[in-house]
Amino acid sequence: MQILARLCMSADGYVTTPDGWPPQVIDPTHGPGSHGIAEFLRTCEAALMGRTTFEPALTADRWPWPDLKVFVLGSTRPAGTPDDVTIDDDPLRLLEKIRASNRGGDVHLIGGPGTIETYRALGVLDKLELVILPFFVGNGMRLTESLNTRTGLEFESSRPLTGGAVEIVYRVSPQL
Ligand SMILES: NC(=O)c1ccc[n+]([C@@H]2O[C@H](COP(=O)([O-])OP(=O)(O)OC[C@H]3O[C@@H](n4cnc5c(N)ncnc54)[C@H](OP(=O)(O)O)[C@@H]3O)[C@@H](O)[C@H]2O)c1
Repeated sequence: MQILARLCMSADGYVTTPDGWPPQVIDPTHGPGSHGIAEFLRTCEAALMGRTTFEPALTADRWPWPDLKVFVLGSTRPAGTPDDVTIDDDPLRLLEKIRASNRGGDVHLIGGPGTIETYRALGVLDKLELVILPFFVGNGMRLTESLNTRTGLEFESSRPLTGGAVEIVYRVSPQL
């Protein structure tokens, strides 16, 4: 099992819109499987995220992770959370629960930046995948507001995606 952080970023370097949404949601090409996510998820069996990233799913038109076991790092269980979603406020204990249920597939660490930094600091983040979107948003949250700027990144691959985005995959190494 690998822990793979993957998130979208605007061309001016923001991982949210000014009002706090992941920037891909305002891309006209956004939809199920877009931005390379369908191919990425072929090796994944679980989704891991922070409570802030998780909560909007509870009011979404469709459940975003129909084929994945869902694990949330957070100190509260938001109203309406499905019974099969695992929530824990201890990052290591949550990781042990992921490992205990794992059948060899990878874990998509969805975000946000705070939760990515939590698992990076524990030394268990294998890759950081960035999908650079072909537009600016002007303002929002930067990845490095939370993620340590001394994170070691080793280039692994890149590929252009339908709609003009570019995927870049880095292996994460110990701090520089
Ligand atoms: N661009 C993209 O592809 C993408 C992907 C995902 C998210 N996002 C954006 O990222 C933003 C949210 O990011 P975020 O970093 O603020 O929040 P987050 O990581 O989604 O969630 C933060 C919460 O996770 C829990 N948490 C995190 N680290 C912890 C630790 N070490 N110990 C215990 N609990 C911990 C806490 O929950 P409690 O408060 O319950 O204790 C904390 O408030 C959203 O605006 C979302 O749209 C963007």
